[in-house]
Amino acid sequence: PLVGRLSKLGPPGELAAALLTRLSGAGGAAARGGPEIPQAVGSLNAVVGQAFFVPLYDLFLTYGGIFRLNFGPKSFLIVSDPAIAKHILRENSKAYSKGILAEILEFVMGTGLIPADGEIWRVRRRAIVPALHQKYVTAMIGLFGEASARLCDKLDKAAADGEDVEMESLFSRLTLDVIGKAVFNYDFDSLSYDNGIVEAVYVTLREAEMRSTSPIPTWEIPIWKDISPRQRKVNEALELINSTLDELIAICKRLVEQEDLQFHEEYMNEQDPSILHFLLASGDDVSSKQLRDDLMTMLIAGHETSAAVLTWTFYLLSKYPKVMAKLQDEADSVLGDSLPTIEDVKKLKYTTRVINESLRLYPQPPVLIRRSLEDDMLGGYPIGRGEDIFISVWNLHHCPKHWDDAEVFNPERWPLDGPNPNEINQNFSYLPFGGGPRKCVGDMFATFETVVATAMLVKRFDFQMAPGAPPVEMTTGATIHTTEGLKMTVTRRTRPPVIPNLEMKIVSDLQEPTRSTPS
Ligand code: HEM
Repeated sequence: PLVGRLSKLGPPGELAAALLTRLSGAGGAAARGGPEIPQAVGSLNAVVGQAFFVPLYDLFLTYGGIFRLNFGPKSFLIVSDPAIAKHILRENSKAYSKGILAEILEFVMGTGLIPADGEIWRVRRRAIVPALHQKYVTAMIGLFGEASARLCDKLDKAAADGEDVEMESLFSRLTLDVIGKAVFNYDFDSLSYDNGIVEAVYVTLREAEMRSTSPIPTWEIPIWKDISPRQRKVNEALELINSTLDELIAICKRLVEQEDLQFHEEYMNEQDPSILHFLLASGDDVSSKQLRDDLMTMLIAGHETSAAVLTWTFYLLSKYPKVMAKLQDEADSVLGDSLPTIEDVKKLKYTTRVINESLRLYPQPPVLIRRSLEDDMLGGYPIGRGEDIFISVWNLHHCPKHWDDAEVFNPERWPLDGPNPNEINQNFSYLPFGGGPRKCVGDMFATFETVVATAMLVKRFDFQMAPGAPPVEMTTGATIHTTEGLKMTVTRRTRPPVIPNLEMKIVSDLQEPTRSTPS
């Protein structure tokens, strides 16, 4: 109990850490017999002060595919080996829960699908997965196009005014607008203006990120949590979001009641294709609190992740102009003047590989969190019940033994005519959407969303890092953020007119006298 209580207070000094490690018996696999998992030493200092998954990479190179990290009295197993990841996520997934993640996210996601475990998870997953059927995801492509077009208009204005833009926050707004409509038919319209609800979503998200990275859980201290202005603001934000969600649920219930409803597998209401509408129409028998938890979970899951993917993709594109040129060629040849269709998206093969490769270099989230519910064997080592485990997707995706030129952004590593890379065909060396029964339910949605946005943006604009932009460095919340934003100069592309070959000579002759010299 003493150790339990102290451990909630975060990392103490190294002496106390060593003492508490002994008291708690962390790392005591030897007591159970069997080989001891390698223990990283000097690790306490190494992980403080930077994105925490970065030093875990060097420790992986030193200690291997599974090692123990003591962080004060807390002890974690860090897994960077594909076979062990596969065992935890897929082969023996029943023996693992979401552990710390569920504790941290409880205040915002309750028992929503991401933190839920056991029976609640099983029932909710069965209800939600059918909502993201093929027809739904196809219908969403129109929504992705509309939102991306709004972002294009905004960038057009910035380009005309010669203003640099901070792309990370714009991508966050783009994906918030998309996910609000897609999940509960709500138009945040955050690309156009800030309103109370948009602000409330950001207050909540920032709090969730603070809680996942803060060593001291001040929000659990009895009096503090009631008087702290920050906590009050968070509570107000949550109240606003909850009442908005309740209202949307009520509106949707009325719509469903009025509908001449014939529910079937690919059911979709054309006016309101949202996941909420599907759930209510399917007769999903669930409390409003659980429904709210699930909606909130999907809002967060589908918002921050896609925004981070777009942010790091555009950062990478600014560093690899040849990839950008190839991408623009594809967008020019596939996309017309109207919004992309599913047929267009299928033809955007290189764009898809760019997203696949961006997700390899910057996986969102960079680590998956689990806790063992029973004794197990991991990589030949016995582990006990209650071990907190970080599966480092970052390490799996950067492993120099597995990947040629692991640090190079090379979409060509995935052949265009080959299968889309996933955890199955890459045998858990690549798992951008996780794997096993808890794999992302929005993988197809997110891939199409990021492909549509990327293709539409690069067709209209060139993107360069803005002169004097702050260096782009990483920091973590649930996903990888930049420390100071992604400041870019956006210029409207002027595409040369397509001229049939035969007429080339005549046309260029004709143009000759009128060509002006740029001053
Ligand atoms: C789970 C990644 C977009 C909904 C996951 C997991 C990953 C992931 C890695 C597994 C977490 C774990 O095993 O601990 C991503 C990425 C996305 C994305 C990289 C964007 C590029 C979305 C979208 C939605 C969504 C758009 C909703 C429409 C979920 C849900 C889960 C999940 C509900 C929990 C599934 C369960 O536990 O049964 N996501 N996701 N995600 N994702 Fe996504």
